[in-house]
Amino acid sequence: MKTQVGIIGGGPSGLLLSQLLHVQGIDTVVLEKHSRDYVLGRIRAGVLEHGFADLMREANCGARMDAEGEIHDGFYIAHDGVRDRIDLKGLTGGNSVIVYGQTELTRDLYDAREKMGGAVIHHAQNVQPHDITSDKPYLTYTKDGEAHRIDCDYIIGADGFHGVSRKSIPQDKIREFERVYPFGWLGVLSRTKPVSPELIYAKHERGFALCSLRSQTLSRYYIQVPLSDSVEDWSDDDFWAELKRRLPADVSSQLETGPSIEKSIAPLRSFVAEPMRYGNMFLAGDAAHIVPPTGARGLNSAASDIYYLYHAMLDHYKNGDDRGLEGYSQKALARVWKGQRFSWGMTTLLHRFPGNSDFDNKLQQTDLDYLLSSESAMKSLAENYVGLPF
Ligand code: APR
Ligand code: PHB
Repeated sequence: MKTQVGIIGGGPSGLLLSQLLHVQGIDTVVLEKHSRDYVLGRIRAGVLEHGFADLMREANCGARMDAEGEIHDGFYIAHDGVRDRIDLKGLTGGNSVIVYGQTELTRDLYDAREKMGGAVIHHAQNVQPHDITSDKPYLTYTKDGEAHRIDCDYIIGADGFHGVSRKSIPQDKIREFERVYPFGWLGVLSRTKPVSPELIYAKHERGFALCSLRSQTLSRYYIQVPLSDSVEDWSDDDFWAELKRRLPADVSSQLETGPSIEKSIAPLRSFVAEPMRYGNMFLAGDAAHIVPPTGARGLNSAASDIYYLYHAMLDHYKNGDDRGLEGYSQKALARVWKGQRFSWGMTTLLHRFPGNSDFDNKLQQTDLDYLLSSESAMKSLAENYVGLPF
């Protein structure tokens, strides 16, 4: 088989790029190691920057997002028993975010790929990129015991943190930057009415908590837990009781609890691999970078990678102009690192760090006091949260 752009990974990054390029007549193949249902079974975050939403619309995949997604003009920071609202719309001259589950977004991308007859190959095992630095790179994989080869002009590594693409780059050609946090997030999905119409990020001496949602009947809550905890340590009742302890009384008193339909613990890490290009292979999304979910930057960091790659491929195939491809890694990393900075900052501001001294904790409290008392500090937070320009 031959294609123009071979994409490893059928998550949001790989699917969105494939769809955008196909709409422009550029041929792609997506190799995904799992089934569609397995991919859609993953519970992920749900806040979309306006830049990501625009890309979904440009890919002819934005209809359900616009119909069912919720526009949020602000969110709350809870602390010391009270809530302060961050007025995203007012602070950014009119920008908001869309709350729409990544599972639904990925479903829309799969449906759009199917509708256009896009080539998405599931259960692609042992995917391997070959001759990456040549002008004739290719991919191999096996499916149902049969070996396959796909010759391509370019390979996109959109296979997430544990994928094969980044690991196919020689150690001396790649640098990795990482910070692992001394806690995780215990998340619960429940068919309950969300406690708040807008997200609440809570800083509490017992630990961080987050009240989010997927719809008006599906709530998503998180609490910071020690890395030593496991899901088995947390009954639903224990989870709800702890969440209530970390929320202001006027919120916890309104909290509708119910059985968890999903409950999991995710570790938090900051990670960047540089460069995001090796030969004719380009890394995008989680394959190249991971953020702690505090700043809701995960999928949104992937958005700018996809935007840059999409336009670079258009320039190459339509105009023979390779400046976008040549400049991709530097341009993508500039925005990726700003997302890292913001996610690290929100995480540092709102979580309980077990190793903190009393002085550290006073500084952390002062950081929050300053933020909530300064219009310019809140403007800075808001412009990062709604999404820096691509
Ligand atoms: N071969 C084929 N497919 C692979 C391989 C492989 N060797 N390794 C991983 N994959 C697939 C995974 O099964 C997954 O479906 O690549 C896909 C990568 O998708 P994601 O991990 O969701 O990464 P990405 O598409 O970049 O989306 C980033 O996902 O993790 C969240 O917070 C993150 O919201 C962000 C989004
Ligand atoms: C979520 O709804 O899962 C979510 C929202 C905002 C975040 C992280 C997760 O910052």
